[in-house]
Amino acid sequence: MLPTDPTKKLSFKRNISDGDLVIVYEKHDNMKAVKVCEKSVLENRFGIFKHADWIGKPYGCKVSSHKGGFVYLLAPTPELWTLVLSHRTQILYIADISFVVMYLELIPGCVVLESGTGSGSLTTSLSRAIAPTGHVHTFDFHEQRAAAAREDFERTGLSSLVTVGVRDIQGEGFPKDLTGLADAVFLDLPQPWLAIGSAGEMLKPDGVLCSFSPCIEQVQRSSETLASNFTDIRTFEVLLRTYEVREGKMDHCQTEGGTPGSRPCKRKHRTSEGSQWEQEHSGSSIVMARPSGEAKGHTGYLTFARLRCVA
Ligand SMILES: C[S@@+](CC[C@H](N)C(=O)[O-])C[C@H]1O[C@@H](n2cnc3c(N)ncnc32)[C@H](O)[C@@H]1O
Repeated sequence: MLPTDPTKKLSFKRNISDGDLVIVYEKHDNMKAVKVCEKSVLENRFGIFKHADWIGKPYGCKVSSHKGGFVYLLAPTPELWTLVLSHRTQILYIADISFVVMYLELIPGCVVLESGTGSGSLTTSLSRAIAPTGHVHTFDFHEQRAAAAREDFERTGLSSLVTVGVRDIQGEGFPKDLTGLADAVFLDLPQPWLAIGSAGEMLKPDGVLCSFSPCIEQVQRSSETLASNFTDIRTFEVLLRTYEVREGKMDHCQTEGGTPGSRPCKRKHRTSEGSQWEQEHSGSSIVMARPSGEAKGHTGYLTFARLRCVA
């Protein structure tokens, strides 16, 4: 991922090199991660693409196949990685991730503890937020999952920013050598209340904890446990609504029941201003907007709390 430039400088301007990871973008719901290898080719329904033609081009470029089809080559940002990674577990998606990164107050140099690692979806964003000088210590008790996450962080160039440990965090807590070092702790565990005591020991004074839980009963139990050592305990549910905005022809039927652009549609008592607008635009091309049918619903609850400072 981009911030792990070997010079340790944050840089978003790069050309594709042999060995780089790129996201091959066909459309927003059809992307895949590909490692560039000078001698390889990519074959898809648009034709055959030679990797050699990609080398030296800037991320974001459009490349053509032997028969004129095209794809875009995008940088493997955490946002895109979350969409293409292999799902070994349930994962956090962009709406929750953005909220977590913001509310954990992450900046370059922060130390973050996380458990469980799962598929590493959140970890990639945590890493970028604390890069280039911070560190994420992430733990999962499932050995294969931890190993797969480690491999992914190698592929995405994040391994210098993340350490993956195998550990039962609910049973044993976080390792004692991290005591008092964490700016933030994130828990995505089935019984987070069992790890809250240890999380409190790991946090710096005033540090922030976040726990993600799909069920409200988990939130209730965690909040009860948090109350003894933490303050400012708040729970959020992030509901994302996407919109389809596209150009289309305006016809009479659409004005009857549809949503012509951002204009309110009045079914029965249409105003004279409304009818005039309709007459002027009937048959012409306008930009229409409506909530997408594939909107995601409930993912989970995010409970945040700040370690109480003992004077
Ligand atoms: C839902 S996944 C986490 C997904 C992750 N947040 C992501 O965005 O990819 C939960 C993970 O917690 C791990 N886990 C469950 N109980 C655990 C425990 N006691 N200690 C450490 N990890 C645990 C599971 O193995 C699983 O990989």
